[in-house]
Amino acid sequence: MSSIKDYRSWGDLPPLAGLGTFEEALASGLSVQACVDRHKRTHYALQRFWEIALSRLIAEPVYEIKMGLSHHAHLAAEHIGKLRERVAEMRHPPLGLDDVPHGALQTFFDEIQAAPCTHALITGLYGKALPAIRQAMESHLRETNPLADAPSVRLLRHALSEVDDMLHWGAKTITALTPSQDADSWLDELDRWLEAAGGLDGTQESRSEKKKVDLPQPRYSAKPFQYQRSPARDERFPDPYNMGVHAEEFLHDERFADRDKVLMMYYRRLREIDVPEMMASILFEMRKASSDEEAGGYPWAFYREMTRQLWDEARHAMMGEVGFAKLGIDWPKLVRINFTWSKALNEQLTPKERHAVLWYIEQGQMGKTGKRYEWEVGRDSEDAFAELIQDYDWADEVLHARIGRDWYVQGFENVSEASAFGSACWDKVCTDWEQWKREGLTEHYNWWPTLYREACRLRGEEPDTETEAFNTSYAETRADLQRLSAGSG
Ligand SMILES: [Fe+2]
Ligand SMILES: [Fe+2]
Ligand SMILES: [Fe+2]
Repeated sequence: MSSIKDYRSWGDLPPLAGLGTFEEALASGLSVQACVDRHKRTHYALQRFWEIALSRLIAEPVYEIKMGLSHHAHLAAEHIGKLRERVAEMRHPPLGLDDVPHGALQTFFDEIQAAPCTHALITGLYGKALPAIRQAMESHLRETNPLADAPSVRLLRHALSEVDDMLHWGAKTITALTPSQDADSWLDELDRWLEAAGGLDGTQESRSEKKKVDLPQPRYSAKPFQYQRSPARDERFPDPYNMGVHAEEFLHDERFADRDKVLMMYYRRLREIDVPEMMASILFEMRKASSDEEAGGYPWAFYREMTRQLWDEARHAMMGEVGFAKLGIDWPKLVRINFTWSKALNEQLTPKERHAVLWYIEQGQMGKTGKRYEWEVGRDSEDAFAELIQDYDWADEVLHARIGRDWYVQGFENVSEASAFGSACWDKVCTDWEQWKREGLTEHYNWWPTLYREACRLRGEEPDTETEAFNTSYAETRADLQRLSAGSG
């Protein structure tokens, strides 16, 4: 055998377990340190992407954008977790994963975080940050050794396929939004910050130092980022203080038919939009307060699992949206989705107290009258979609109760103490039904009869008088359902 070209695997079977050819395995590749450095840069970038998505989705009014950011925060959190694991496989602590790799890269992300409108935010995230992340991952994948660094190859290939999905959503969203003023000059500035950082992966760093990039003045990040923890909604949510229809009371009333209860369940699902709004505030604020795991902050697993939960809640909201759309119900006109729960919790409680309330409510859904009951209503309603989504809603909520046990309850002596604290925090929250009415924020209009009549019209049926007359608001709540009254499930 004179050269590698003449080398053959046994029986010409695919060599190297399918990782590549001998030529590819002999091409140089990156050192462990170079590989770690690149992973750490990508990790920092994805971490900022995650943080920006969470810090902005609460006050982002447009529902589709709120949902998209919830989804992508979850995907980012998953890949951040993988990158952290991979770096930890290659190096001993301290890993410095929470260090800022370059000041200009920090400003690049600070600028996007402080973007003054939805268009600028989305263009910064999906027109600049994510394409740079993609490029960094792609060149890392191309340049690393497929045999020696197979674990990174696998990680990058998996991440890239999801980054492409995210970019696809971003590109379509940017096209649909009205451009902000000065968009182009700001995007040029973002390029210059990135260039000064030596590119997102830092591989051009020596070149940028020599070239002495002429840095712009920070435009939007000159002042510290103004984080908004009060939720905002678009025009399809015109009455966000409305607590005029007590969905749970209707759901548990034996006089009413299961297929009518499905309407209330679709409402309850869509109302879960307030859980991402609330959870984003927990995650962003906790991470800000103590971001360094090596200095005793929460481990990434906490943020990863909680972001997964946040995304599940967003999915539940969209399942309700699909349910209404399937029935031909014009929900923005006929249903008043409120934001009273996320608003009250975000404004009145600390992150830990919000977490306590969240677990307390979800734990309360685990009994016979909770998620199981909703699934039974779905099953008996002859609406196959309602049965399907309640099945998954139930499974997801069981997972959430487990996440709560692992990250919230474990901080207490026992479950009853955790429960007492959750209950006390929930009692502390004032949602003043009368006050909102006095202040003219809402009339607490009872939207049920109109929704119900429309559902009957679509079915070609006469409304049932008793069902149509349902008129129970959250002002006069049955004691056993009171705990559910303003809480999402
Ligand atoms: Fe749910
Ligand atoms: Fe949940
Ligand atoms: Fe939920």
